[in-house]
Amino acid sequence: MAVLEHLTSHQAIDLEKKHGAHNYHPLPVVLSRGEGVYVWDVEGKRYYDFLSAYSAVNQGHCHPKIVGAMTDQAKTLTLTSRAFYNDMLGRFEEYVTSTFGFDKLLPMNTGAEAVETAVKICRRWAYQKKGIPENQAQIIVCENNFHGRTTTIVSFSNDPVARKDYGPYTTGFIQIAYDNLAALEEALENNPNVAGFLVEPIQGEAGVYVPSEGYLKAAKTLCEKHNVLFIADEVQTGIARTGKLLAVDHENVTPDILVLGKALSGGVYPVSGVLANDGIMDVITPGSHGSTFGGNPIAAAVGIAALEVVKEEQLAQNAEELGQIFREELNKFIPTCDLVVKVRGKGLLNAIVINDSEGSSTAWDICMAFKENGLLAKPTHGNIIRFAPPLVMSKEQLMDCISIIIKTLQEFEK
Ligand SMILES: Cc1ncc(COP(=O)(O)O)c(C=O)c1O
Repeated sequence: MAVLEHLTSHQAIDLEKKHGAHNYHPLPVVLSRGEGVYVWDVEGKRYYDFLSAYSAVNQGHCHPKIVGAMTDQAKTLTLTSRAFYNDMLGRFEEYVTSTFGFDKLLPMNTGAEAVETAVKICRRWAYQKKGIPENQAQIIVCENNFHGRTTTIVSFSNDPVARKDYGPYTTGFIQIAYDNLAALEEALENNPNVAGFLVEPIQGEAGVYVPSEGYLKAAKTLCEKHNVLFIADEVQTGIARTGKLLAVDHENVTPDILVLGKALSGGVYPVSGVLANDGIMDVITPGSHGSTFGGNPIAAAVGIAALEVVKEEQLAQNAEELGQIFREELNKFIPTCDLVVKVRGKGLLNAIVINDSEGSSTAWDICMAFKENGLLAKPTHGNIIRFAPPLVMSKEQLMDCISIIIKTLQEFEK
């Protein structure tokens, strides 16, 4: 089949099934266009995107400013590798570090690469600065974490689907319960070999688990007491998604290492990075870490434009306001139905919990019904449906989406 020939949804799905590895289970919708909060399938049907590519498209689909920055740069210089300087990377580094308040940025491409980078920086810091004996450093992580898909990252996951048969696993990680300060304290006490605590400020993939108020602040204090680096993985929660630029900003916490990805590019290009101050980042020396594409000129141009859009369009404030409305409206509806147990979240990162067993297909079936009614969302784990629309949504659009969601749930319950 000619690559550019118009495809029906069925043909596109069949092609993927036949020629692609089956590492995802997508909703059966084939998208061919996006603009702002909307996407269109190949048959021309329009949907509200309520996933935003797992919070990468916070700035909305095909944002003209970001796409403009990318196409301009693509016509000028695309890739130099870091064997040479380019005239965009320094500007990007300056912009990102001043936006987030750190001395240095280490640019990468994907979220998982940035997490790996944070793990490497933390381990080096452990040996070179904290004085942990060689190969003894440990990093505390949380149960039900999601930090990506590399061999090391799945080594410290407890999701059997993500890790089964990928061993032998990387050692050096201690797993504790999320949102449990006593567990963190116990893991830190009497263990001089702990180098870092890697945490998602809200566990997105696990089902949008928002920790108790004060958890992050108290966790940071415990880390300081034990000279342990607090590493915030804000790949999903960062860049205005939760109603602040960073989710840790809700508790005025400054991480020692900050991991960003996804919306750092507004979803138009893979851009990720790790931020830290000099006393930590200076463990990285020439040749000790890198990536051919990390910090390339297109990524730099796109990254600057993507962050400018977040500021210019006040996306954090919009996420905060719309998120309040979303949860208020759903909280009015929930007592009237048996199908939904609760809504939870922060800003425009929310989820509903469906009244059925974790193994049931109800959440999937509801997402299929949402799709029929013009809204795309996806279950995270079992009976939980995540709602993460682009942050450029207007109040009118949100109200429209809420009525689609409620109407669909009501129809479903009949
Ligand atoms: C918190 C968190 N960290 C890391 C990642 C991995 O990012 P990527 O898929 O770009 O490798 C994700 C992806 O969903 C994430 O949610």
